[in-house]
Amino acid sequence: GLQSTTPMLQKAKANKHGIVAFNVHSFDSIFWVLEAAAELKSPVILQTTVGTVKSLKADNIVRVARAAAEHFNVPTGLHLDHCTDYSVIKEAIRAGYTSVMIDASMHPFEENVARTQEVVALAKTLNVNIEAELGKVGGVEDDIVVAEEDAQKAIPEECKRFVELTGVPTLAPAIGTAHGIYKGKPDIDFKRIEEIAASVDVPLVLHGGSAVPEEDVRHCVQLGMAKVNVSTELKNAYSEAIRQHFIDSPESLDPRAYLQKAKEAAIEMAKSKIQIVGSENTV
Ligand code: 13P
Ligand code: ZN
Ligand code: NA
Repeated sequence: GLQSTTPMLQKAKANKHGIVAFNVHSFDSIFWVLEAAAELKSPVILQTTVGTVKSLKADNIVRVARAAAEHFNVPTGLHLDHCTDYSVIKEAIRAGYTSVMIDASMHPFEENVARTQEVVALAKTLNVNIEAELGKVGGVEDDIVVAEEDAQKAIPEECKRFVELTGVPTLAPAIGTAHGIYKGKPDIDFKRIEEIAASVDVPLVLHGGSAVPEEDVRHCVQLGMAKVNVSTELKNAYSEAIRQHFIDSPESLDPRAYLQKAKEAAIEMAKSKIQIVGSENTV
């Protein structure tokens, strides 16, 4: 079945490796991610944005994720990514999600605390993990758009107060990465991660994992960022494979042919990300 990601991430942090949380955008991609995790004997987290919940429906996502987790038999969490809406969080938990993000990072600190407290009160007793964000991660992730000049790094002292006030079990501090593929190299503030990790006990979450150089991801993981989010690189990999298929064979109409190409590309990308965070052979 699907597991709460709280113990998964605590264990990963204690063992100094990460767990990749892959954004999935289709039912097929749920199976591809789990096949990659199973091949590498790795735990994994599936996550969907609110946009994906709206298009596929929470109940269906849970059914497919459960079926895939049972089939591939690796520790699997199902997480709701970047949700600003309490009612969607409730819907996801009722459907069977094992982790939810309340993203109130666009609000002032006190408001972020209040909104997070509300979700912690609902989710914790149900054994559902909660993630909250401090600072503002730049870039575009579905409906969440933050311009580069509005991106803001998290303040270590605020992280400490935030975790104390909310009891949130996982925290995503903005530390210089952005959603999507950036032009240059991200300017990650490792010193800040170190300060944050020293002031809170909880596993930290790295957002904007696509296009972060391998050694930087490893460094973040070593400093306590146990959950590494990857969206853009995975969906681009399999979408590109489908595009290439139709460039090579414009007359092709067999879904199994193009989905096979997509699957191969997705599995290769997912495996490479799992290897970077070091969770291979940990189950
Ligand atoms: P990327 O699209 O940069 O991989 O970011 C993923 C993410 O943070 C999802 O919440
Ligand atoms: Zn994110
Ligand atoms: Na990114």
